[in-house]
Amino acid sequence: MTDRFSHFREQLDALDRTSRLRRLVPRSPAGNQFIENGAEFVNFGSNDYLGLASQPTPSVSRRGGGSSSLVCGWTDVHEQLADRIASLESTESATIFPSGFAACSGVVATLPGPNDLILSDELNHASLIDGCRLSAADRVVYPHRDVLAIESILQQQRSQHERVWIVTDTIFSMDGTIAPLVEICDLCDRFDAIPIVDEAHATGVMGTNGSGVCEALGVKSRVPIRIGTLSKAIGSQGGFVAGPHVVIDYLINRCRTLIYSTSLTPSAVAAAMAGLDSIEGEPERRARVQALSSRLRASLEIITPPVESIVPIVPVILGDVTTTLAAAKSLADIGLYVPAIRPPTVPDGTARLRISLSADHTGQQLDRLIKHLRRGDPFRPSA
Ligand SMILES: Cc1ncc(COP(=O)(O)O)c(C=O)c1O
Repeated sequence: MTDRFSHFREQLDALDRTSRLRRLVPRSPAGNQFIENGAEFVNFGSNDYLGLASQPTPSVSRRGGGSSSLVCGWTDVHEQLADRIASLESTESATIFPSGFAACSGVVATLPGPNDLILSDELNHASLIDGCRLSAADRVVYPHRDVLAIESILQQQRSQHERVWIVTDTIFSMDGTIAPLVEICDLCDRFDAIPIVDEAHATGVMGTNGSGVCEALGVKSRVPIRIGTLSKAIGSQGGFVAGPHVVIDYLINRCRTLIYSTSLTPSAVAAAMAGLDSIEGEPERRARVQALSSRLRASLEIITPPVESIVPIVPVILGDVTTTLAAAKSLADIGLYVPAIRPPTVPDGTARLRISLSADHTGQQLDRLIKHLRRGDPFRPSA
């Protein structure tokens, strides 16, 4: 019986030989720390940018969604959450998905049609990539943030397609870089293309009101379709898309990851509402994580444009997998958890430590991390 799966074992063994085998590790989180095998770690690996995930869930009267949104799983609170997201995003409408992955993959798979073209950044999240793969449209992947490459593809291919969609993350999850949205919007105007962005790592963190990078760069009104997650800064679980009524109505009728999946659980909806309350009512959380992020970059002498310096994802690219794992272990040995990110999550030769910051981190915790990174201990080959 097991022989039928021996090819999986061989592949797992091959991953193990190249230090790429990954395992689930049970951890007990408490605030910005967790306990693993009895040892305590400060968590620099979570996407809980505003420190909201560790807050208690508001009590709800029922446990499950019960059915898909279209059948009878859409409740008054789902409607209220969708309205609040539309209001945060300043769009006509919004709807909610079971996860950010379902939102990204579903929207990109559904909106571009058979005679269309999708242009997609090479470092886009897997969920956008899978959406491209599922779509009936033609696809071209452009080099990371390369506006000239986008222009050249549009010059060559625009006329052969009915519609063109430019799909990009606004903050790239493994690099902490920001998409050149102003330039992309200019190209969309020039070539009659439509931008679709994923604000997964930006909602709650970027922009004066916390709606994301589109707000921070002043292009909210130029980017009609904006996807996001409830699972990172908002501190809950689930995904959303915000846009014009006609687009949201079309998705409700056509998007398979929305139609054929149970609606978001009521406890996740309530937690997301509480997260939005904090984003609106406690801007000091946003200001704090932004300040910690620029302090970390300044201390590590990482020079970026001002808008990028406040992004709470700071990669330290070390290149090879062994060095990166050793660096992560050396930080873990002193109680600091910084995940080692390896291929295939990042391109070959770019393994890295990915530091993510939270408004919950104390100045002392950050200082300890900075001290050890600056001393270079984690990067020295072990004796
Ligand atoms: C850029 C990006 N988009 C989408 C997602 C998916 O969001 P979720 O975790 O809510 O499924 C993630 C999460 O890992 C992400 O990093």
